[in-house]
Amino acid sequence: MTTVVVTGADRGIGAELIRCYHARGDRAIAACMGDGEDLAAEGLEVAPGVDVTDLATLAALSERIGDTRVDLLINNAGVFHVDAYDQAGFDAMLRLYDVNTLGPLRVVRALERHMSEGGRIGIVTSRVGSISDNSSGGMYGYRLSKCAANQLGVNLYHELRPRGIAVMLLHPGQVATQMTAGLPGGETLEFITPQESAAGLMRQLDRLGPDTPPEFRHTNGALLPW
Ligand SMILES: NC(=O)c1ccc[n+]([C@@H]2O[C@H](COP(=O)([O-])OP(=O)(O)OC[C@H]3O[C@@H](n4cnc5c(N)ncnc54)[C@H](OP(=O)(O)O)[C@@H]3O)[C@@H](O)[C@H]2O)c1
Repeated sequence: MTTVVVTGADRGIGAELIRCYHARGDRAIAACMGDGEDLAAEGLEVAPGVDVTDLATLAALSERIGDTRVDLLINNAGVFHVDAYDQAGFDAMLRLYDVNTLGPLRVVRALERHMSEGGRIGIVTSRVGSISDNSSGGMYGYRLSKCAANQLGVNLYHELRPRGIAVMLLHPGQVATQMTAGLPGGETLEFITPQESAAGLMRQLDRLGPDTPPEFRHTNGALLPW
C-alpha cells in the first residue's frame, strides 16, 4: 500500500488531498497543525500538532511514522497575506518565509529517512512565485516566499536524485479556500474547488518519477515558467 503524508492538512487543499488519496485506497496521513478532529471524525488518519516551523513537532511526526516507508510526501502547509511596497510588514514577511520556504525544507529533512528509491516529494508553491510570470508586481512577502520555495525544490531535486527520490513543484490553481476568501478583487476572479485542485495535483504527482526533470506544474498539467 502506498503511504502518503500531507502537511497543512487541517483544511482546504490539504484536507482534500487526504480525502482523495484515502478514497483511492492509499494510506493517507494528515499532518495537521491543529487536532484534525474533523478529519478524524471522517475516519481519516490524523497526526495532530504538526507545525512546519517547529522541529520538535516534526520529530514527533517522524516518530509516529516509525518504520513505515513514505512513498509520497506533499508539502502543502502555507500562509498568505496581501501586502504592498509601502506597507510591507517585515516581521509578517519573515513569517511567510518561515512557513512557506523553510517549512518544506524542515519537513523533508525530518522525513527523508522514511523515503527511499522511488519516493516522491511534491511542494505546493504558487504561480505568483514565478519570476517570468510576474506581470503585476505586489504581494511582496508571499511572492518572495514562494519564489524561494521553487528554488528550494530544485535544490532538493539535486540533493535527492542520487537516492532515486523525485521532487516536483506545484501550483494548485486559484482555489476557493479560507486562504483566498476575502481576497481583494476576488469577486472578479474565477476559482476552482479544492476537490478539482486536489484531483489535478494527484494527476501531476502520479506522473512524477525518478527521471522527471525539475518541473513547476499547474494542477491542470501546464508546465509553468520559473
Ligand atoms: N488557494 C489558492 O488559490 C492557492 C493558490 C496558490 C497556492 N496555494 C498554496 O496551496 C497551499 C494550501 O493552501 P489552501 O488554499 O488550502 O490554504 P488554507 O485553506 O489556508 O490551508 C492552509 C493550511 O496550512 C496550514 N498551516 C499554516 N501554517 C502552518 C504551519 N506553520 N505548520 C503546519 N501547517 C500550517 C493551515 O493550518 P491551520 O488550519 O491550523 O491554520 C491549513 O491547514 C498553500 O501552500 C498555499 O500557499 C493556494
